[in-house]
Parts: sequence; C-alpha cells; structure tokens
Amino acid sequence: MATINNNYMKLPGSYLFAEIARRVAAYKEAHPEADIIRLGIGDVTQPLPQVCIEAMHKAVDEMAHKETFRGYGPEQGYAFLTEAILKNNYESRGIHFDTDEIFVSDGSKSDCGNIQEIFGTDNRIAITDPVYPVYLDTNVMAGRTGELQDDGRFAGVTYLPCTAENNFQPELPKEKVDIIYLCCPNNPTGTTLTREELTKWVNYAKENESVILFDAAYAAYITEPDIPVTIYEIEGARDVAIEFRSFSKTAGFTGTRCGYTIVPKTVKGRAADGSLVSFNPLWNRRHTTKFNGTAYIIQRGAAAIYTPEGQKQVKELVSYYMENARIIREGLNEIGLSAYGGVNAPYIWLKTPNNMPSWDFFDKLLHEVNIVGTPGVGFGPCGEGYFRLTSFGDRQNTIRAVDRMKNTLRF
Ligand code: MLT
Repeated sequence: MATINNNYMKLPGSYLFAEIARRVAAYKEAHPEADIIRLGIGDVTQPLPQVCIEAMHKAVDEMAHKETFRGYGPEQGYAFLTEAILKNNYESRGIHFDTDEIFVSDGSKSDCGNIQEIFGTDNRIAITDPVYPVYLDTNVMAGRTGELQDDGRFAGVTYLPCTAENNFQPELPKEKVDIIYLCCPNNPTGTTLTREELTKWVNYAKENESVILFDAAYAAYITEPDIPVTIYEIEGARDVAIEFRSFSKTAGFTGTRCGYTIVPKTVKGRAADGSLVSFNPLWNRRHTTKFNGTAYIIQRGAAAIYTPEGQKQVKELVSYYMENARIIREGLNEIGLSAYGGVNAPYIWLKTPNNMPSWDFFDKLLHEVNIVGTPGVGFGPCGEGYFRLTSFGDRQNTIRAVDRMKNTLRF
C-alpha cells in the first residue's frame, strides 16, 4: 500500500483561514439573518485598477487572433513584465538585477511556500512568532521540523518572539540558524523593521552563512520614509536574501494571481561536497519543472500598473485601504484597546481586552457584533492575547464595523 508523507500528521487540523471560514459558516448556518462583516482574511474588496482591466481586455482580444495568440509563455515571466518590475521597483532605487534573477509566478503565497524545496531538509529555520503560517507549515510538510509540542511550538524550529514588550522587533537568534523568514511590513502585526534593524539581520546572515527569505508582499503600504521598501536597500543583502513581492495587495490581484520572486545569483548555499552553489539555477530548475508560467492576460494586467496612470490608480487603491486602517486604529483606541500597525501596513494588531484568549475574542466579536477577525494565536503562541483586523474591507463596512464595536462592546 502507498504510504503517506507522515510530516503532514504533525500539522494541526486545518490551515488557519480554512478554520476561520469553517467557524463562520457554522455560525451563519445557525444565524442566517446575521449581517456578518468580514475583516478576517486579508482579501481585497475593491475592483482592479482600470488600467489593469483595459490591458487584460486587450490581451483577451489578442488571444482571439492567430497572429497574436499566445500559448505557453516563458515560465519566468514575459520580458515586458520583468523589465517593468526591475525598472520601477529596483532600478529606480539604484538596485540592479539581471532579468534572469526575477521569476514571475501566480503569487507570493506559492513562492513563499515552495522556496524551501531548494534548501536541504537539515537546515534550521527561524521564524518570527507570530508569523504568516505558510512559512512554518510548508517546512513542517517538508520534514524540516520535529513534532508539535505542548507549548504550541514545533521542535527543531527557532521562534523569534514579537510582542508589544519588544516593540515587535525580533531579536537575533541565540543559536545559529540557516534560513530566516522575515516579513516586512509584517503580516500579521502590521509593524515594520527599520533600516537599522534590517541591517542587523543582513549582517547576521552574512556572518552565519544564512539566507533571509524576505516577504515584502505589503511593500506598497509603506508610508514612512525610513522603512526600506526592499531588503536590497540594505548593503550586502543581495548576497544573502531572496525577496518575494506580490500584485495581490498592491493592485487587487488576490483573485487574479500574480507575484514574483527575486533570487539573486549571488545568494549561495553549500552542497554536500562542500562547494558553494547559487540558489538561482536551482529555483529556475524548480520553476521550469513545476510551473508553466502566469497567464499572458494576467501578466499584461500586472504590467499596466507601471504606466503613469497605473501608478496613480494603485496609489489611490492603497490610500483607500490605508484610510480604512486609520478608521479602525483610531476607533479601537477610542474604545480603550491598544492597537498596533495600520501605519505602514493594511493590518491592525490589537491587544485583546483583559488578556482574553484570542479565540474567545474571535467568538465574542462574531457572536456579539457579527464581525470576523483573525485570532492572534492562529499565527503562533506569541499571538495569544492578540487579534488581527484587516483594512481590506470596503469603506462602508469598515465604518459600520467600528461603530458596532464602539456601541456594543463593553469590557
Ligand atoms: C492573510 O490574511 O494573512 C493573507 O490574506 C494571506 C495571504 O495573502 O495568503
């Protein structure tokens, strides 16, 4: 009989957002009249920018004619998109990459999850706690961790606590780690790492021959000038960091799917024979073997954000969600709750009242005010006593949600 990958047996029942969806569906079935406002999963609600729509319509028309029809494209992405990304997001900051150091994909969740395949299973990983669950779960699946322990942590993983007490800044690990996942602006806490903090991490990685997997999916939400928009703004980062970026939150592509990963040729790991090997050809091998490219139509839509009009429309979209973030943050402060994030990120991370356990607060919000959020503990043990709200709702629902909380919740 075929055997299973036993590493999957180490994972808790279901993926965090699947569990939330299950609980909300059960509540809705019991209370069909409930007017539920969803501020849980970070899914966008506003339509795609008009420039993207027009570019995609045009691309659809091209597909209708033999002369302009496209079949398989380059797995790494069409040059019109990779060149636009490199020019607008990197060269504009004095950072240069070759076009074969960028890989377009169907989104950064896939890339963040798949990247671990090109690393040995004997690497020790470090993750912040709380953390976007994809980083940890995919390493559990690959067998890079031990069992889940009573304290909610997996054996063999270095957890870097991020709480209000340390201002959500992870400390450098005491032991040597090989792979470090950093997310900035952070999902779930909505906080950021300064240039100085990020420099510490790059220096650590250089000294310890580690690789930083830098998730910058929310880079478009940075408003403060001293926060690096890409890790490659930090000297030496191109030797130690792989960066993930996404059109999902930047331009409303959560359903449309497009992201990209920068794998500089200078980021290297050690082979079994002790030689140094660049990760870039390994990722290229993986990408071309397992992925057949993001749809032409979608890539045309993504490239449209780099036109002057596209840049304007994307800024408007980001501002819309950031205004929601302000409304939520200030509303929470008015009812006496401590709220973090929401300044350089679309997430607001709040301290639950009287240290209420995160899932209890989830139930309280769902049952008393029909609002769905995300329990902090779902992102890791240090998220216990915290709760995440997203600013990706529409304006009216965001205002209604804050009003409901103000008018109903008593602690
Ligand atoms: C989240 O809510 O954390 C995000 O939507 C997850 C994701 O982008 O995959």
